[in-house]
Amino acid sequence: MADLSQIKGINARQIKLLQDNGISTAEALAMSPGSIVSDIDGLGDKTAKKLIWNARNALGMTDFIQAKDIDENVEFMTTGSSELNKILGGGFQTGKLTEVYGPFKSGKTALAHTISVTSQLSVKNGGLNTSVAYIDTENTFSKEKIKRIAKRFGLNPNETLSRIYHARIYSSDHQSQMIQKAETLCKTRGVRLIIIDSLMALLRAEYVGISKLAPRQALLNNIIHTLSRIAETYNCAVLLTNQVAVKMMGMFSTNDAIGGNIVAHGCHFRIMFKTKGFSSNNSLKRRAVIVDAPDLPPEECEFFITSAGIADTDKVEIPESPGLEFEVETLYEEKDETSSDVNNDSESVSKQVSLVSVKGIGKGTAEGLHALGISSIDELVVADPGDLSAKLSGASTSKVLEWQKNAKGLLKT
Ligand SMILES: Nc1ncnc2c1ncn2[C@@H]1O[C@H](COP(=O)(O)OP(=O)(O)OP(=O)(O)O)[C@@H](O)[C@H]1O
Ligand SMILES: [Mg+2]
Repeated sequence: MADLSQIKGINARQIKLLQDNGISTAEALAMSPGSIVSDIDGLGDKTAKKLIWNARNALGMTDFIQAKDIDENVEFMTTGSSELNKILGGGFQTGKLTEVYGPFKSGKTALAHTISVTSQLSVKNGGLNTSVAYIDTENTFSKEKIKRIAKRFGLNPNETLSRIYHARIYSSDHQSQMIQKAETLCKTRGVRLIIIDSLMALLRAEYVGISKLAPRQALLNNIIHTLSRIAETYNCAVLLTNQVAVKMMGMFSTNDAIGGNIVAHGCHFRIMFKTKGFSSNNSLKRRAVIVDAPDLPPEECEFFITSAGIADTDKVEIPESPGLEFEVETLYEEKDETSSDVNNDSESVSKQVSLVSVKGIGKGTAEGLHALGISSIDELVVADPGDLSAKLSGASTSKVLEWQKNAKGLLKT
């Protein structure tokens, strides 16, 4: 990595201006688009162009090179599942943007937590021995989860936490600001994994309606471009999690990542996570599908979500580590206990009540849906209408679509 001061003709004031705008190395400047650098207050168009050219010259970027000399310094970290590593060509990789999208509960945050830990392992044990920048837009980061995953991989839980730089994000411009700050961490703290969980949540909430689409996509374009440059400059891995929207195509529905072509084309790897069957309540088994990758076949695999992150089996053991005790979340054990007397426990009754509040769904239908594993409005909204009508007597596809429309209306209120 070369310092800005090594660029021919640059002065201290210009270095300060560039640094204040998140450009802190010669590489970062050389890869920045002229328009962004020219927009920096106090720099000016002509100076910006000159400095970018000089940076590119200094780094040998103004000549073609023979393909045999291309530096492909790709490194991998384990995802916690050897099956998932295999279809990813060796694990989660550096230098590129990877988008993981899927419905709620599909395991996106679980992967984010797992690689926040595995990236810290030594190279020999499947990591990069690096620190992590975690940009949390949904307030779902869990220290307890990180500690359990650390124990599973034989790392000290508190040391592991101290190598994760976490930022809770409240607005889309805050998100952009902290991405710039993450670049500084790459430079000063040796961060080589940046996680944004999730990429679109705040943009989606702030830019509502068709009139806001153009500014939203412009901001998104900027975010993706900046991250791509950071990934390449610092050989840093970037995980972007993304939500899905249900897209109707006649009678069929598919889950499509949000953010449109800018995200789809801007990310080098796109992986879809799927919950199994109808409901994500019955099993913690998940499916991953390679949707797009520069040099990987479109393969699929299964993995599990466990209390200690992503794994190949749901029976992951967390080793003892005396002196480092902490409470283990009991949420899932509790869920298992209640699900043994399915129909009459108070939890399932309350879920039926919430389904019953959807216009067109009575108690009998709610029970039928419950038997098919759909026990909440959220699950109804993402169910496949064709599949559901085939399994639920008396429910046509159009009726299911109507329920889903009414349920979505309730979710909005
Ligand atoms: N400690 C745990 N033990 C077992 N399973 C867990 C544990 N914590 C979470 N899960 C399971 O992981 C799933 C949630 O996964 P995760 O939070 O990664 O989903 P997500 O894809 O990020 O969803 P969202 O879109 O809502 O953010 C849930 O199905 C939950 O049952
Ligand atoms: Mg999540």
